[in-house]
Amino acid sequence: MKTFAFCIVLFFLFIPSPAQSLEDGIPAGLAADFIHAVVEAGRTTYSEQVVEHLQSSLPASEKWEQDKTLLLPAQFLSMSSKISNSRGIGMKYRLMSLWPLNNNNAPRSQNEKLGLEEVVKNTDKPFTWVIPRNGRWYFEAIYPDIAVSETCVTCHNNHPNSPKTDFKVGDVMGGIIIDLPLGKRTEKNVDEKFLLTPEVVADYVHSVLESDRTVYAQYVVNRLEEQGILQSKEKWENENALMLPAQFLLNSAIKSKRLGLNFRLISLYPINPQNRPANEFEQDGLESVEVHPIRPYIKHSKVGRKTYFQAIYPDIAVTRGCVNCHNGHPNSPKKDFALDDVMGGILVSFQLR
Ligand code: HEC
Ligand code: HEC
Repeated sequence: MKTFAFCIVLFFLFIPSPAQSLEDGIPAGLAADFIHAVVEAGRTTYSEQVVEHLQSSLPASEKWEQDKTLLLPAQFLSMSSKISNSRGIGMKYRLMSLWPLNNNNAPRSQNEKLGLEEVVKNTDKPFTWVIPRNGRWYFEAIYPDIAVSETCVTCHNNHPNSPKTDFKVGDVMGGIIIDLPLGKRTEKNVDEKFLLTPEVVADYVHSVLESDRTVYAQYVVNRLEEQGILQSKEKWENENALMLPAQFLLNSAIKSKRLGLNFRLISLYPINPQNRPANEFEQDGLESVEVHPIRPYIKHSKVGRKTYFQAIYPDIAVTRGCVNCHNGHPNSPKKDFALDDVMGGILVSFQLR
């Protein structure tokens, strides 16, 4: 009997550990891919569906505040990264270049400079490395930022501050750097496979989403509406209008899907009935974030053999515009939203294995 018990103990001690699955966490390299996908999705949505859509009526300009125009795509990204970086959640991101128009966007270390030089040569993957800083390990990844259209090239080549005047379409003009804190400096084997918990990765993804959403709502929609320059409309496509903040998020969501990353905007008081909670988890989550707005509502769920991680974060009325439009909308079931109220939730989900 004793031997038998001993065997069981041994069995549990030496149980073969399965190949590390995503259930244990998300490798830093994949976490950076997720974050980059969301940053890139916001950048593309803003460039293509806002700036290019309105090019003939309200061109974007560097002095957007003074000119009462749209901010440039690079300024949109840097404003969003400033908001996210200032939250102190650990992860940071920003746009930079070896040939910056704005010196704040120059590389800040020898490693950043080397990384940028690498992505200029090798455009098909990010350049990544691990580095100790102030007693901690950090994972850094630089993704190339490409001159996707003639407008990128023309504006940069002709700008008085540009150190480079021969950019061509398809060239790497700079890079987006993502910086993730890993473990303490004493930990061994810290590399791009270092596992971050799904909760932390969801916080990072959500921080980018919320920062983009804030910049779009505050510095694009609210500012231009208050100055009577542009309106945001549901049917913006055939008009000289801005897309709604909800549509901005939805567009970014569609663009981030390829990595298995999903997000949605939902609410207990939806204008669009499709945005109401789709199941008990979403209902419970929305009720929870309404009363505990600093804590996301989290679940691991199994569908067949796959495990998904889901988190609902509160969606806050950050501007008067949010409140006024919803309270005044004929299809809104709630007419008394106030500034800073939780209006709904942002659902972030990804597959764990
Ligand atoms: C109308 C002019 C204009 C257009 C169009 C434009 N940019 Fe820029 N870009 C700027 C300005 C001005 C800055 C500096 C913004 C700041 O103050 O941070 C900048 C910043 C950047 C940076 C950061 C490094 C730097 O130069 O400061 C990159 C990278 C970049 N742009 C790439 C692009 C790409 C890619 C496109 C096309 C998708 C593009 N830009 C379109 C004017 C433009
Ligand atoms: C100009 C009007 C307008 C503004 C401004 C606006 N919304 Fe909305 N919002 C809508 C409409 C219309 C929908 C439904 C979109 C759809 O068809 O999915 C929506 C959808 C939503 C949803 C999903 C639930 C629902 O009502 O369908 C949330 C949550 C939400 N908005 C919050 C906000 C917040 C927070 C802001 C400010 C950052 C904001 N909205 C700004 C009009 C607006």
